Amino acid sequence: MRRKIVAGNWKMNGSKDLAEKLVGYVRSESESLDNGVEVVIIPPAIYVRDVVEQAADTLAVGVQNVGQWQSGAFTGEISAEMVKDQGCTFALVGHSERRQIFGESDDMVAAKVERLVSCGLTAVVCVGETLEEREAGRAEAVVAAQVKHGLASVAADQWSRIVVAYEPVWAIGTGKTATAEDAQTMHASIRKVLAGIGAPAESISLLYGGSVKADNAAALFAEPDIDGGLIGGASLKDKDFVSICRSMPAGT
Ligand code: PGA
Repeated sequence: MRRKIVAGNWKMNGSKDLAEKLVGYVRSESESLDNGVEVVIIPPAIYVRDVVEQAADTLAVGVQNVGQWQSGAFTGEISAEMVKDQGCTFALVGHSERRQIFGESDDMVAAKVERLVSCGLTAVVCVGETLEEREAGRAEAVVAAQVKHGLASVAADQWSRIVVAYEPVWAIGTGKTATAEDAQTMHASIRKVLAGIGAPAESISLLYGGSVKADNAAALFAEPDIDGGLIGGASLKDKDFVSICRSMPAGT
């Protein structure tokens, strides 16, 4: 059975107050979740410690980015070891905002994935096409290339630490969600690509991200190859986020 995951990516939002109130609320509500979903909070790195304390081993905590090196003179960077040291078990890699705004390449993504899985952390590797690429009929090819390059350094015994998040760039923060059918088609395609590179494709969790809300999560999560969601805007609203976590069907 694949891991079912709902992860809230706060991006550069939130505060110490939100870390206490929202995480406290999500933790107490998640105690009654009986659908086997792993709930992950991904705040800005500076609030990780506050979130870890509030999460109290009930929720998992992650970071939005990690440095690609082990240690050294890299001002402003945080290593995978440090992330683990602070109690995180997850990290996003290659979010489209990192790729587009900070010029993160597939090689950098691969190096970061390598650092994370070597430290025993779960890497949520984000992939997705732009609107232009979709309209040109290149969506599947673009995503396949990102998957292949980003996961090039994963060793046979490290696949259990890999999660792939499909986030079409045109759906992020825009209110436009891919239809459940289109998302399913891409997820099935990603699973084929994973099988093609020798990964245990059937056991790797694939998350969908891009304007997931309380009212569309259930339809997305009902699809056979969608194992959870990466949630941006709605993860900052306590009740909406919990409602999304509850939308995961049990026993799939
Ligand atoms: P959104 O963001 O849910 O606000 O569209 C998703 C993401 O960027 O991970």
